[in-house]
Amino acid sequence: KFTPRVFSGIQPSGALHLGNYLGAIRRFAAMQDKGMETIYCMVDLHAITVWQDPADLAQSTRTLCAGYIAAGVDPEKSILINQSQVPEHAELAWVMSCVARMGWMKRMTQFKDKAGKNAEKASLGLFVYPALMAADILVYHATHVPVGEDQKQHVELTRDIAAKFNHDYGVDFFPLPDPVIEGTATRVMSLRDGSKKMSKSDPSDASRINLMDDADTIAQKIRKARTDFDALPSEAAGLEGRAEARNLVNIYAALSDRTLDETLGEVGGLQFSEFKPKLAELAVAQLAPISDEMRRLLADPAEIDRILAAGARRARDITGPILGRAYEIIGM
Ligand code: ADP
Ligand code: NA
Repeated sequence: KFTPRVFSGIQPSGALHLGNYLGAIRRFAAMQDKGMETIYCMVDLHAITVWQDPADLAQSTRTLCAGYIAAGVDPEKSILINQSQVPEHAELAWVMSCVARMGWMKRMTQFKDKAGKNAEKASLGLFVYPALMAADILVYHATHVPVGEDQKQHVELTRDIAAKFNHDYGVDFFPLPDPVIEGTATRVMSLRDGSKKMSKSDPSDASRINLMDDADTIAQKIRKARTDFDALPSEAAGLEGRAEARNLVNIYAALSDRTLDETLGEVGGLQFSEFKPKLAELAVAQLAPISDEMRRLLADPAEIDRILAAGARRARDITGPILGRAYEIIGM
């Protein structure tokens, strides 16, 4: 009943990193190239759940747009938008926050992680963020949502919200979207702490490889990445209990488009002093063309703004009718 349609988004709140690239953007480009209908978003309304400096937000949105394009998302093939320029996202979010239950929101682990100990001081927006994310997806009738593992719970919540809407109003209006979480890099970990994911919001810049880092910085961050002292194993089972080693091997595997076992077939037996320079060389070779292209695109911010304005027009041809029909179903 529903045509396959892909939606995903990234927050314009700080530097794009290797986790965003391997876990998200690179896969966005791959789905586009398979000929699927794809819509990719800079989710600025999500970014402001935590205070953002206004000048930084505008610049981060352009940088993110440049990152998408540099990594292979083609604004002709995909619809590329900034969330706040497509007002139907926020309008449907209100409906979704009336459908979702408080208890469902309270179970979201990301709120607990992001709000920290002082949850009473977190913004209300940070708490209801998953209702906005549900609207982002459902306002396109999207069926597939490529994300990293950290977003799985939110996509499952989106399914619950869609199902409840359909049930409450006796319709089969919203599809139940599937999270698409595949490959060796669905959860790239911090270079400084193998128990935390690599994240934009980590205060330690050494914890992540930013897409815009230069070659020396990338090499230095990898050289200083935390590890144990054993040689790499030749089979995946040997990575058990070695979170940091597993993470670096996973990154190597993802960057070279191979499975973990194929990768260990090559690098098994190496010491970190031998493996890290190989990893750095591969990371630089893959990321340098992307950061060069990002810099080239960012030299013409007006062109990026034009791309986003055109994307918003195309998006609203889809979101306008879907929101209109949702309101009709509700009796508005
Ligand atoms: P961040 O957590 O760094 O602020 P976002 O929340 O904007 O990033 O996430 C954007 C996309 O990147 C999501 O699909 C998310 O699952 C993915 N992602 C973020 N961090 C990682 C990571 N460390 N490994 C794999 N995917 C990630
Ligand atoms: Na995230």
